Amino acid sequence: MNSVQKADAIRALKSQRPISMLTAYDYPTGRLLDEAGVDVILVGDSLGMVMLGFPDTTHVTLDMMVHHTAAVARGVKNSLIIGDMPIHSYDTPEQAVASARQLVEAGADVVKLEGGINQVDKVRAIVAAGIPVIGHHGMLPQRVLEEGGYKKKGKTAKESDAILEGALALQEAGCFAIVLESVVPELAKKITHTLEIPTIGIGCKGKDQEQTCDGEVAVITDVVGSYPWFVPPFATQRADVAGEISRAVRGYINSI
Ligand code: KIV
Repeated sequence: MNSVQKADAIRALKSQRPISMLTAYDYPTGRLLDEAGVDVILVGDSLGMVMLGFPDTTHVTLDMMVHHTAAVARGVKNSLIIGDMPIHSYDTPEQAVASARQLVEAGADVVKLEGGINQVDKVRAIVAAGIPVIGHHGMLPQRVLEEGGYKKKGKTAKESDAILEGALALQEAGCFAIVLESVVPELAKKITHTLEIPTIGIGCKGKDQEQTCDGEVAVITDVVGSYPWFVPPFATQRADVAGEISRAVRGYINSI
């Protein structure tokens, strides 16, 4: 399957079964996730925080994304690979196409960018260049400095309407799916039911943990517990890799 067919296959999963997506930033993780059968691997710009030690994603450059996308791609045979477009790599449609091409040359099947109606011209340009695009709407980590923190979205009717309108515009512009981040569960459900393309949620469930989107994305370090210094409240940790590393290192130190 080529990349467009792979993206189409993910789109076709809407209403069939939940879509699984996890982040990866290096060869071994990409290979392990692929071999475990995850549908989609996101080389997210979250790598700036959980791999490179920056305070937020605004420090991530296209060169960094290309480097990590290539490493992940060397380990992946089946999963769809998303190359995340970092801040200021898609300020104009021309720049967006050039940046998307670099990520695809590095091994990405598709690219992701953040924003709603304001990004429609970039989405159209990238799709016209033959590269599938996944949108990212709701809370936008690349705007953390302007917004003064990570804030739940969709709490007012006005904000809810604007996000729904943005999601519809992204669909209309040609996105094959949309990541919805930290929107209130009622809005996530409404967008999921309104759109024909799949929604992939992160931080969009309520207290009851009921599914509100067509799929779920998580940051791999949260899932395996390898970045213990900050874990978002909505994350479910399923292993304690940080604890295992500490135990192994202490055992090694004591053995010599
Ligand atoms: O960069 C990333 O990991 C992301 C997810 C949080 C969706 O964009």
